[in-house]
Amino acid sequence: MTNKKSDYTDEELKRWIEDGAFSEMLIAKADRLRREYYGDNVYLRGLIEFTNHCKNNCYYCGIRRSNTNVQRYRMTIEEIQACCQEGDKLGYRTFVLQGGEDVFYSDGEICRIINRIKEMYPDCAVTLSIGECSRESYLAYFRAGADRYLLREETVNERHYQKLHPKNMSGKNRQKCLWNLKEIGFQVGAGFMVDSPFQTTEDLIQDLRFLQELQPDMIGIGPYLRHSNTPFALYKNGSIEKTLRLISILRILFPYALIPATTALGTIHPMGRELGLKAGANVLMPNLSPTKVRNKYELYDNKICTGDEAVKCRACIERRVRSAGYQIAVGRGDVKRKK
Ligand code: 5AD
Ligand code: FES
Repeated sequence: MTNKKSDYTDEELKRWIEDGAFSEMLIAKADRLRREYYGDNVYLRGLIEFTNHCKNNCYYCGIRRSNTNVQRYRMTIEEIQACCQEGDKLGYRTFVLQGGEDVFYSDGEICRIINRIKEMYPDCAVTLSIGECSRESYLAYFRAGADRYLLREETVNERHYQKLHPKNMSGKNRQKCLWNLKEIGFQVGAGFMVDSPFQTTEDLIQDLRFLQELQPDMIGIGPYLRHSNTPFALYKNGSIEKTLRLISILRILFPYALIPATTALGTIHPMGRELGLKAGANVLMPNLSPTKVRNKYELYDNKICTGDEAVKCRACIERRVRSAGYQIAVGRGDVKRKK
C-alpha cells in the first residue's frame, strides 16, 4: 500500500488533527496497520543521555546554553560502556546515544565510542542523537559503525522555526542534515513537538508533507512541555489527545515506520505511553543513563524516571507493554518497509 501525498487532502488532515471526534476511527485504523506490519511487537531502545552540555539556545529546551541552573555533566567512554553492559543484560539490542550539541566530543572521540560499543555488542544497533553536524562528521560516524540517527526537524515552516530558535539556527540547515544522513545510509528518524508555541495546524500539515518526502524510518513526536527556566516557561503544555491523534495519523501515512511512545507522552499523563502504543506507536525508549546524572537531563519540567535505576525502568516498561496488549520484541528492531 502506498500513501502518496494525494491520498489525504490537507482539509482531511486538518480535521483529523483538530477534531476529537475522529480519535476513535484514527486509533482503529492505526492499530490495524501497525499489526499488519509489526504484529503486536514493541521494540525497546536503551537511551543513554551522555552529555547535557549544549551550544544551542532553543527557546523551549531545558538544557539550552543560557540555563545556568543546570548542573552540566559529560560521561566518559568507560561510563557509556558500563551503561551498555547494563543494557545488554536487560536485553536491549539498540543503544541510543543522545546529547546536547557538545563540541567537547571530537568526531574522533564519537567514533571511538561507536567503535567500542560495536566491538563489544556486534549484534546491537547504535543510534546517534547529537544534533546538527557537517556531512563529513556524519559520514565518519557512519563509517565507524553507527546505524541510525535521530534528528527531529522540529518544524519545517521557517516562520515557526524562527519563533522557536535563535537567529543563528535555520530550519533549512536542519532539513539539509536529514537529507545528508539519509543519503549516507543511516536509518533516519525525524519528528516534531505537538503544540509547541506558535504552532498552527497548517505548520503540522507542512511537517507531515515534509515527512512524506523524506520517508524517514523513525518518527518521534511528543507534546511540548514547559520548562520553568526557559523563555517559553509561561506557554502551556501540549494536548495529549492531539498528540495521540497525530501518532495515529503518522501510522496511517507511514505504516512501516518505527514510532516511539515518547518520554514526553509518559510525562504529560501517567498512562501516556500505553495510550501512545494503542494509538499506533511501536517503540519505547527506556532510560539507561546512570541515576546520578538523570535529573540533570531535564528538557522539560517533571520528566519521568529521573530517580529510577535502569532495572526498574525495564520492569516497568514490561508491565506497561503487556497491559496495553502488546509484547516486547527481541532483536534490533530494524525498519520493515514491507508487510
Ligand atoms: N518539551 C517537549 N519536547 C522537547 N524537546 C526539547 N525540549 C522539549 C520540551 N520542552 C524535544 C525536541 C528535541 C527532542 C530531543 O526533545 O523535539 O528534538
Ligand atoms: Fe522508568 Fe517506568 S520506565 S520507571
